[in-house]
Amino acid sequence: MPRFLSANPDPRLITLPWGTPLEDWPTENLVALPRGISRHVVRFVRVGHDVYALKEVVEHLARHEYLMLRDLNRLDTPSVEPVGVVTERVAADGTTLDSILITRHLQFSLPYRTVFNRGVRPDTVNRLVDAMVVLLARLHLVGFLWGDVSLSNTLFRRDAGAFAAYLVDAETGELHDELTDGQREHDLAIARTNLFGEFLDVQAGGLLDESLDPETLVLSIETRYRELWSELTEVEEFDGSQMHRIESRVRRLNALGFDVAELDITTDFAGSTVRIQPKVVDAGHHSRRLLRLTGLDVEENQARRLLNDLDTFRAQTDQQGADEAIVAHQWLQQRFEPVIAAVPSSLGSKLEPAELYHEVLEHRWFLSEGAGHEIPLPEAAQSYVRSVLKHRPDERVEVPGSEELTQLQNPYDPSQGFIDDEGEKPYDPWEDDNLGPDAETAGAAADFLDIDALRRKNRKD
Ligand SMILES: Nc1ncnc2c1ncn2[C@@H]1O[C@H](COP(=O)(O)OP(=O)(O)OP(=O)(O)O)[C@@H](O)[C@H]1O
Ligand SMILES: [Mg+2]
Repeated sequence: MPRFLSANPDPRLITLPWGTPLEDWPTENLVALPRGISRHVVRFVRVGHDVYALKEVVEHLARHEYLMLRDLNRLDTPSVEPVGVVTERVAADGTTLDSILITRHLQFSLPYRTVFNRGVRPDTVNRLVDAMVVLLARLHLVGFLWGDVSLSNTLFRRDAGAFAAYLVDAETGELHDELTDGQREHDLAIARTNLFGEFLDVQAGGLLDESLDPETLVLSIETRYRELWSELTEVEEFDGSQMHRIESRVRRLNALGFDVAELDITTDFAGSTVRIQPKVVDAGHHSRRLLRLTGLDVEENQARRLLNDLDTFRAQTDQQGADEAIVAHQWLQQRFEPVIAAVPSSLGSKLEPAELYHEVLEHRWFLSEGAGHEIPLPEAAQSYVRSVLKHRPDERVEVPGSEELTQLQNPYDPSQGFIDDEGEKPYDPWEDDNLGPDAETAGAAADFLDIDALRRKNRKD
């Protein structure tokens, strides 16, 4: 009897033919989906509406990869989700078989070769590279040394015009408290070698646009990684009259898909020099922190915005060492409530308070950026009411329509165009018509993308 190691087993998996080498599994259990190159046998199985990826590999590696993926998921890092490991497999003739690592198939994802096979424009290659860089930086931030950075070990998903990259192979990974510069350089060196080879391969297959060259692409990965890393981790110093720079930094990070939790803000004793260093954290963190501090129960993006403002308030009033709850109380009285009160009651129903405050901050940021100095909050609130709120219809934050959500419930229905075993129905998740879960309709993508930043971007467009 095979043994299952799983924190959350799917009982339907137990009846699968574990006593058969994966290569020989009956086709009735299998589903053909795009798959990257691999040393091990990898197959996709469908049980009910769920699709799993199975990889046959020696037990200690299967276990190690399972644990690594579990940690990466716990740390909210984009990677495939581990389901379990099946060990002690014995064939009918008594031979022992390798273990199988089970992961959930990442919906709407494509290996890079499939992407290139379908023809990609140079601009698309750049976005692919960007997604890869963001993934590597995210992994490094949580202390994950990948060891086998490559396009083959990454899956790509369309993500509202951009791409999101997910780690698929964690076999060589190691999780540390924090990576040293040397460890990060090690991963970068591996990335250079592997990606150079992979781009050469694509080029040899005639699939790389002539304007692109593997060496330049690999160099750009390195440059972009370094830029992103310093945006994420570098300490920034400026003087007290330029507080809007804190917000600009947060916005740049949000636009890159990063969530900034607490900003580590320190001022010198005269309050004339400010140092900031962002800390990047997990989802749900902001709404929990805001609720604890102020009793305001709001959406995550609103909470992040309000907390950033609270942190700025703390720095402005030079209360770094003060009790958080006391500062939060002052912020409510001196900042939040006056803004809400500035709205005439006839306009008060247009937006809920947290959203309204968020919009006022937004408005002030645009005014301050334009003016090159900080516009006081009361002034921004007045201007917002006059020039924006009056003209707004009575509406709240847009949420995805329920029809869209139902549409995504069963993405594996072949009638909807998924590739079948003979490959007769080519499914192309990159076609606009087949657009998979986008930022606002699917969990994983929504974790990754900053909806707030998108809304701002749309508004600017
Ligand atoms: N959960 C998943 N969702 C979608 N595709 C997957 C999943 N797991 C594996 N794959 C596909 O299978 C391919 C091979 O998986 P993986 O890289 O883990 O195998 P490997 O044999 O360990 O590779 P390597 O040769 O790098 O050691 C991936 O490139 C990917 O296309
Ligand atoms: Mg691999």
